[in-house]
Amino acid sequence: MLIPDIIIAIDGYSSTGKSSFAKLIAKEFGFLYLDSGALYRGVTLIAVEHSLIDGSNNIDEEKLLALLPGADLHFETDADGCKTYMGRRCIEKEIRSLAVSRKVSPIAALPSVREFVDGKLRELGRRKRVVIDGRDIGSTVFPDAELKIFMTADPEIRAMRRMKEMESKGEKVNFQDVLDNVRERDYIDSHRAASPLTKAADAVVLDNSGMTMEEQMVWIRSLIAGRFGNTASKS
Ligand code: DC
Repeated sequence: MLIPDIIIAIDGYSSTGKSSFAKLIAKEFGFLYLDSGALYRGVTLIAVEHSLIDGSNNIDEEKLLALLPGADLHFETDADGCKTYMGRRCIEKEIRSLAVSRKVSPIAALPSVREFVDGKLRELGRRKRVVIDGRDIGSTVFPDAELKIFMTADPEIRAMRRMKEMESKGEKVNFQDVLDNVRERDYIDSHRAASPLTKAADAVVLDNSGMTMEEQMVWIRSLIAGRFGNTASKS
């Protein structure tokens, strides 16, 4: 199906499968996939590796901000799609570790960090034909995005998905720890002062608790066909 040059914003709770869904949408429609959470995770990795966040989540914001411009956080497309790099170093594995997951919400709550990430995303979004997933893409970063999806699912189902993902990467984790982390991140993400997780008024809700990925693809194809199917351009 050909569709016009649009921005597709996919927001929602952690571990709802936003990135897997966004990647498949990008592949199907020939769009570029941008993982905004990976940028927050990259910033968090910098903070963790430089010991700029302590056990009580006190952050040395000044030092962190000074490191960001030179860190060269970016995406590089390789055979697997979008990957996250810091300079020449692939940081995909490190940014998905529990050590980073535990610290990412307090780091993402800093308005200065959000400004840095938003700037990078808006620059990349200028080309259009992008699918971006995150928490505030449709509400704050791209309020004019032509298609906005808000994803949700039961916390236990999300924790199970996250646990399987981590185990498949060789990380041994306990279900209760993962569930606690999911709930804690839900709370911080939705209650922070700067750009909290909120459904944009014009976003379409997708609760995928009992859905397979194929069922989600059927759902999005029909949504996109209904909205944009007759307005496609070959560009
Ligand atoms: O999608 P994810 O789990 O990889 O995101 C990691 C964290 O980054 C998440 O706890 C919330 C934060 N985040 C955010 O605040 N805003 C975004 N647009 C994307 C992620």
